[in-house]
Amino acid sequence: MGNSCFLGILVTISLCLQLFGVGVHGLGVNWGTMASHKLPPKTVVQMLKDNGIKKVKLFDADSTTMNALAGSDIEVMVAIPNDQLLAMNSYKRAKDWVRRNVTRYNFDGGVNIKYVAVGNEPFLTTYNGSFINITFPALENIQNALNEAGVGDSIKATVPSNADVYNSPESNPVPSAGRFRPDISGLMTQIVEFLAKNGAPFTINIYPFLSLYGNDDFPFNYAFFDGGNPIVDNGIQYTNVFDANFDTLVSSLRAIGHGDMTIIVGEVGWPTEGDKNANIANAQRFYNGLMPRLAGNIGTPLRPGYLEVYLFGLLDEDVKSVAPGNFERHWGIYRYDGQPKFPLDLSGQNQNRFLIPAQNVEYLPQKWCILSPNTNDLSKLADNINYACTFSDCTALGYGSSCNILDANGNASYAFNMYYQVQNQNDMACNFQGLAKVTTQNPSQGTCNFIIQIASSSFAIGPSLIGMTFFAVIASVLL
Ligand SMILES: *[C@@H]1O[C@H](CO)[C@@H](O)[C@H](O)[C@H]1NC(C)=O
Ligand SMILES: *[C@@H]1O[C@H](CO)[C@@H](O)[C@H](O)[C@H]1NC(C)=O
Ligand SMILES: *[C@@H]1O[C@H](CO)[C@@H](O)[C@H](O)[C@H]1NC(C)=O
Ligand SMILES: *[C@@H]1O[C@H](CO)[C@@H](O)[C@H](O)[C@H]1NC(C)=O
Repeated sequence: MGNSCFLGILVTISLCLQLFGVGVHGLGVNWGTMASHKLPPKTVVQMLKDNGIKKVKLFDADSTTMNALAGSDIEVMVAIPNDQLLAMNSYKRAKDWVRRNVTRYNFDGGVNIKYVAVGNEPFLTTYNGSFINITFPALENIQNALNEAGVGDSIKATVPSNADVYNSPESNPVPSAGRFRPDISGLMTQIVEFLAKNGAPFTINIYPFLSLYGNDDFPFNYAFFDGGNPIVDNGIQYTNVFDANFDTLVSSLRAIGHGDMTIIVGEVGWPTEGDKNANIANAQRFYNGLMPRLAGNIGTPLRPGYLEVYLFGLLDEDVKSVAPGNFERHWGIYRYDGQPKFPLDLSGQNQNRFLIPAQNVEYLPQKWCILSPNTNDLSKLADNINYACTFSDCTALGYGSSCNILDANGNASYAFNMYYQVQNQNDMACNFQGLAKVTTQNPSQGTCNFIIQIASSSFAIGPSLIGMTFFAVIASVLL
């Protein structure tokens, strides 16, 4: 279907680009994999191609993901997770990392790596400074290793940062007053100077949803792109917090003499569950504002023109930590199974068009686990729900979410089913001290979807997988 363009040679290319899944020029997505059941990487890569997505940002450099991307020509940002930053303080280890995860894929038909993300939001205030001393040395070592390997001209190291690395003073909360956070301003200056010396970009994650979350005084419409009360800064009108936030970074960079540094928006998006403002209607409103602005190369008041942007994210991830909030597992423009959640026109033309879903997804059988109707002894119910939700994702039950409509029995069934699905519908996983039973009748109600998990290769223990594991052990001994 994605190739229908080629059938009609007479169709002009521009018409083709508008009619078939071709995204905003240069649009990227974040592909996180913290899911209990992962879609096969090849399925995901096909989905990216079908939707015309040409850039992807990863959170590691997992070899199955990388192998699936090989030959696709999709531009890739690979990543070093925060827990490996300390190791990268050794130049020898950094060189080894670059060899194993970057230059190894640098061949004809390999992976088109453009960036290495060194850490992920390492200066978040919630990390209490744990990564403050080890991020910059890791950045230096990785870029120097890339340079030494002869790929530094085309592959740049960068540190994706949360927008909390800069702010404006409370007394003058306008973008032009933006400065890097006082406790890390010296460090940020060193990092920016190093990025500039290497022609590398500054990568920033901007979340209008988080501006709204937990701040009931935040002007609701200002989180979107279709008419908030403007704030005026030196004659410039800001009508949305995304522009204001981005330009606060531009001002922070200016203040240290790098106002023209390339900026990549590493993450931007809106979750669909897990908070009163996390729902499909708000997500659609957000993306329907964002996409045409990207397509039109509107940029921000201080940076008009093209912005390199990676949406967050591609797929829901049911085992992410919910420490930041229940919405954390629901950032996908696709559900866990590669089905689109809402119409979204990636071309930025607002045509209310569905994303192209993942193809040939294999599901577990049509079976659910529910609270048994014959149950009289409900004294053990709370403990069993608690157990089920500890080892599966019950975030859709919470306030403001799609399953908050259920009654107490419905809650129990939902929890039992989530656990049962995570356990690949193992019979033993639908017992709960005799409280539960398997059904083939879909128990979904209204907005609340009782899911069937996908058949996940990462759970299958077949002979071929055992063979591969054996091979991998041999291979790692040889390395
Ligand atoms: C880098 O490659 C090695 C060897 O394939 C692998 O063990 C490691 O997990 C990779 N690093 C990341 C961050 O994915
Ligand atoms: C940061 O400090 C707070 C308060 O001392 C603590 O509760 C939290 O666990 C710490 N977080 C990390 C990541 O160390
Ligand atoms: C970082 O280094 C500073 C200065 O050497 C030191 O005071 C601080 O405790 C270090 N922080 C951590 C988290 O190691
Ligand atoms: C169902 O569970 C949710 C989340 O734990 C809770 O907020 C809600 O009150 C429960 N509903 C009933 C009827 O117990």
